[in-house]
Amino acid sequence: MAKEKVKIGVVGCGVVAAAYYLPYLMTLDNAEITAVCDLHAVRTEACARVFGAKEQYGDYYDMLEKSDIDAVFILTAPGTHVPFALAAIEAGKHILIQKPMATDLDDARKIRDGVRAAGLKAVIEPSSSTPLDPDFAVLRDLVKQGVLGDILWFSLGATGPTSYAPGLASNPYGKAAFFAADSGGFLFDLPYAPTNIVGVLGPCKSVFAHAKISVADDFIVPESEFDKFMAQISDPQDANYWDVVVNLPRTEPVKMEAVDQAYSLYEMADGSHGACHVGRIYHPILPGAGGGALSVYGTEGNLLFGAGYKASIISSRRELLPEVSEDGWFHIPLRGDRSKARWPVPVPGAFNYYHESSRHLVECILEDKEPLVNVDWGLHITEMMVGALKSSETGELYHMTTSLDY
Ligand SMILES: NC(=O)c1ccc[n+]([C@@H]2O[C@H](COP(=O)([O-])OP(=O)(O)OC[C@H]3O[C@@H](n4cnc5c(N)ncnc54)[C@H](O)[C@@H]3O)[C@@H](O)[C@H]2O)c1
Repeated sequence: MAKEKVKIGVVGCGVVAAAYYLPYLMTLDNAEITAVCDLHAVRTEACARVFGAKEQYGDYYDMLEKSDIDAVFILTAPGTHVPFALAAIEAGKHILIQKPMATDLDDARKIRDGVRAAGLKAVIEPSSSTPLDPDFAVLRDLVKQGVLGDILWFSLGATGPTSYAPGLASNPYGKAAFFAADSGGFLFDLPYAPTNIVGVLGPCKSVFAHAKISVADDFIVPESEFDKFMAQISDPQDANYWDVVVNLPRTEPVKMEAVDQAYSLYEMADGSHGACHVGRIYHPILPGAGGGALSVYGTEGNLLFGAGYKASIISSRRELLPEVSEDGWFHIPLRGDRSKARWPVPVPGAFNYYHESSRHLVECILEDKEPLVNVDWGLHITEMMVGALKSSETGELYHMTTSLDY
């Protein structure tokens, strides 16, 4: 009989697990949260109590050995992603890996090769700005059809929640996740940026970059506050620590041990080139002001994100556009209830990549399909960031060794 439910083991019962993955996984008919694992017992206990996790572990390798699970969701800090992914592959488990897949190209290759050799399914986050989002599938298709003509240049500035004005949280917690040397810093915290470029323009050919640590000393909220938060939650829909942590005093000093600013010039396989900046800003931008969203300019059209829409295209090749508004542009509307929007929580009703990736992996396992955001995708995005660092270190252009059929 065909399998009906995918049994999932989650490693890392931190902020992202509690806020996004677990409350969604518990609602799926074709999956169950069989086991959870974390170094902090108070966190696994909360996951059992609130999200119905059946088994609790304090040691990942113990969970892999003892629990009857089909897939592992790796939601720990980046420094553990590679050993945890390789051990899951060795144990024959399908995987979802939170970003970044790896901070080293050989490690990413080992994961890719291991998944392929074992015939497993793997989804590599983030799946936002990828073909998993139907709006991006439309945009990529239009670009491939030539709606922009020959693409000349593009630009993108990704800042995320990395402002550092006093009282405004820049990654207000998470020494291991965002600041430690093996986290890869903000460059590897924001693979959303290269993903957004690839999601529209396809594979990358080379990168030239300048990367540095610009704010060496920071303050975060002590880790113990998250334990207190997890000890008192009871409603699965009320487990978003971001809402709480931004208002807590940041009293614990933390060293920025990895890159927090990177300016990369990417040349894409289609011949276009453009700039991509990931890093800090002083203050979240003024609502309505341009915020560094992706802009692409070609000989026959422009593609812009923002300005009140998810994306918009103007083109001399109007016949290619699905529809044209009175202002002459094709607009993809912002979806979901924007009145409830608050960074960095996904807007209710809009594309939620944590949910879509979970649903997609489960579906790919049950239906034996190859995931859209797979290990080859993850390897290519990883190389765009690794290449940026290498270029910055050597002062030379980095030539990509991986590509994508996309
Ligand atoms: N927080 C966010 O909004 C967010 C958003 C997108 C992606 N992410 C990614 O999700 C991952 C986790 O981020 P987070 O914000 O949830 O961090 P976090 O620090 O809140 O959670 C990580 C959890 O992993 C546990 N852990 C660490 N080492 C472990 C080990 N050896 N065995 C078992 N458990 C272990 C920690 O105790 C912690 O509970 C990171 O890769 C991050 O890049 C986070």
